[in-house]
Amino acid sequence: MILVTGGAGFIGSNFVLDWLSASDEPVVNLDKLTYAGNPANFASLSGDARHIFVQGDICDRALIASLLQQHRPRAIVHFAAESHVDRSIHGPGDFIRTNVDGTFSLLEATRAYLAGLTDTDKAAFRFLHVSTDEVFGSLGPDDAPFSETTPYAPNSPYSASKAASDHLVRAWHHTYGLPVVTGNCSNNYGPLQFPEKLIPLIIANALAGKPLPIYGDGQQVRDWLYVGDHCSALRRVLEAGRLGETYNIGGWNEKANIDVVHTLCALLDELAPRERSYSELITFVTDRPGHDRRYAIDARKAERELGWRPAETFETGMRKTVQWYLDHQDWVRQIQSGDYMQWIDRNYSQRTGAAE
Ligand code: NAD
Ligand code: DAU
Repeated sequence: MILVTGGAGFIGSNFVLDWLSASDEPVVNLDKLTYAGNPANFASLSGDARHIFVQGDICDRALIASLLQQHRPRAIVHFAAESHVDRSIHGPGDFIRTNVDGTFSLLEATRAYLAGLTDTDKAAFRFLHVSTDEVFGSLGPDDAPFSETTPYAPNSPYSASKAASDHLVRAWHHTYGLPVVTGNCSNNYGPLQFPEKLIPLIIANALAGKPLPIYGDGQQVRDWLYVGDHCSALRRVLEAGRLGETYNIGGWNEKANIDVVHTLCALLDELAPRERSYSELITFVTDRPGHDRRYAIDARKAERELGWRPAETFETGMRKTVQWYLDHQDWVRQIQSGDYMQWIDRNYSQRTGAAE
């Protein structure tokens, strides 16, 4: 079996669902259920003995040690993190705790567990660390995309905490021989993404007839990858990634934020038409402090070594995503209560803006 951390969040729950639809290998899913963790994400696995959910904190080393002893996984896939850049600006403490201390405690518990394994089991074991392209910092318009050898230059509390966790993972390999492999992925989108992130927030606001907030001039560029493609890349990294290596994972889809939002509006105009175009709701608001201008991923190493390429184009992935949110408005409504509304107020009420 495998141990997944953060499997109640966006990418983790997609990974668990994909994993169990393709294989019978059981999953222990350890998640603290912060605001971002949602058991409804894996409601379809209710009663499925292959999925063992444990509510707990990755900072709790004794809990991890006992889970490892009890279930004896052959791999750990580590998603659990605080993941939202804007929240890291408002309150960085939780990011240091979970992303840095939590990864440290997971590495130490893994090291102790491996010491008790046979050489064969030890050689087969993998610690797959799920990280981000944000650790590389911000690109200029003509810079080459991030490669695996691009120096780290994180700019936000979130990306600094993820960079720190990447460094710990690397060091535990070099110093203690931990069998690690890391994926640095670009912006994911797709079903089950918490509606604080750009794409689900825009869809939810549009359907509610609320302003669609664009930070700054909207010309910041991100590379977008459909979440199912990230999951397939991670499965390949787990199967065939070389120990101690990092793999950049991306969609070959660089888009300016304003273009992403116009694409969403056009899809909504087609799939959920209203009297006037949703694009009339676009509102430019005060920028994110320290906002990185451009991310781009060179994913050729993953293609060369792992034979991985994304299956979805931006057009097919976005259409599926918009349709999923239209079909699952209850899932969004269930989230849009107390804590969520407080966050929206905290993040957006201070931003001034004018309609496009
Ligand atoms: P998410 O915020 O949707 O989910 C995070 C999950 O981790 C939640 O279920 C939460 O309850 C859990 N968690 C948080 N703190 C915990 C703790 N202390 N102990 C146990 N569980 C805890 O995040 P996501 O978007 O699914 O991202 C998953 C991973 O992928 C993160 O490591 C993130 O840095 C990385 N990543 C995300 C993206 C993206 O676009 N979303 C891109 C690249 C990499
Ligand atoms: O690049 C990978 C990263 O992508 C992951 O590591 C992070 O976990 C994930 O949250 C994401 O970070 P971003 O900051 O790029 O994602 P977000 O959806 O918050 O924002 C995408 C872009 O849209 C970014 O340039 C900020 C902008 N934005 C975001 C929001 C929420 C807006 O213009 N308006 C908004 O309301």
